[in-house]
Amino acid sequence: MKNIIILFSCIGRRVSLLKSFHAAAAQLKLRPHIIGTDITNLSAALQLCDKRHIVHHVGHADYPGQLADIVEKDRVDLLVPTTDLDLKLLAQNTDLFEQFGCRVLISRPDVIDICQDKRKTFQFLSQNAFDTPATMAPAEALAKRDMAFPCFLKPWDGHAGRGTAKVENRQELEMLARRIPNCIVQEFVDGVEFTCDVFVDFDMKVRCVVPRKRIEIRDGEVSKGQIAGHEAIMSQTQALVETLGAGPGVVTIQLILDAAENIKFIEINPRFGGGVPLSIKAGADFPKWILQQIVGEEPKIEFGNFKDGLIMLRYDDEVWIDPQ
Ligand SMILES: Nc1ncnc2c1ncn2[C@@H]1O[C@H](COP(=O)(O)OP(=O)(O)O)[C@@H](O)[C@H]1O
Ligand SMILES: [Mg+2]
Repeated sequence: MKNIIILFSCIGRRVSLLKSFHAAAAQLKLRPHIIGTDITNLSAALQLCDKRHIVHHVGHADYPGQLADIVEKDRVDLLVPTTDLDLKLLAQNTDLFEQFGCRVLISRPDVIDICQDKRKTFQFLSQNAFDTPATMAPAEALAKRDMAFPCFLKPWDGHAGRGTAKVENRQELEMLARRIPNCIVQEFVDGVEFTCDVFVDFDMKVRCVVPRKRIEIRDGEVSKGQIAGHEAIMSQTQALVETLGAGPGVVTIQLILDAAENIKFIEINPRFGGGVPLSIKAGADFPKWILQQIVGEEPKIEFGNFKDGLIMLRYDDEVWIDPQ
């Protein structure tokens, strides 16, 4: 049996993702060795790893070097980021990891830049003719005589829905734009929100797009979701990821489908999203496809082959740390 050594950085609460890599390895008759990093031992997913590393905060100058040490000493085959925190650093330092034969599920630094600055995301989308809500600086919105309300405020570097507000009039806009750091103003889109999990293989080909409806959100992450194989969403999302050149790995695209069926893209996260267990359960076995390519097998992937309508309801679970 061949070993496969997988390192998850900033592993936090990604228990389900870890388990799906475990299951995929077992299916492929590989012996998985899972390594996790976090800044604290009080991390649920870390407890389920075969090996744990407590590392510096991502802002520390030694963080990339620490990860590279782990990759070298533990002979890591695959490095999987799980949060936005270290994407930029991993993208800038792929050579550090690849010199030891490790594959990294990360996009190019310029792609990460576009995704992590919502002003640049808007520019990219509009320059490439993808529909997206009009986006401007607060001063520009306030200077507009015909500014349409409601509008939506959010930080250009935000995450997990923090610091967002729907604004009904000019006074509210003026007040809230001052309170929200790095605020941008967006056309408010009323509609049904979707997230797409997009699989890009190691040859940078988009192989599968799975749209899921966001039914309920808790702390910025989906808590109830449903697979919805909407053809136009799938083809436009595929085109978007191809144009951006994101990947390899899973790229998470958020959009709102308005009443007139316009597909308004709002966010691109170039990593596994929190709701990805739903797509995996529906048959888009990203972990299996990734591991297959790592061991030199060609994964059989049918674009759009997943269980339509499948619903995921999430709940809290516990992990225990025994006293020493
Ligand atoms: N233009 C918009 N119109 C209506 N709702 C929006 C708009 N932009 C964002 N939202 C809502 O705010 C949430 C967070 O926005 P998003 O752009 O995904 O930023 P982040 O997830 O990084 O905080 C979205 O999931 C969506 O529900
Ligand atoms: Mg989002």
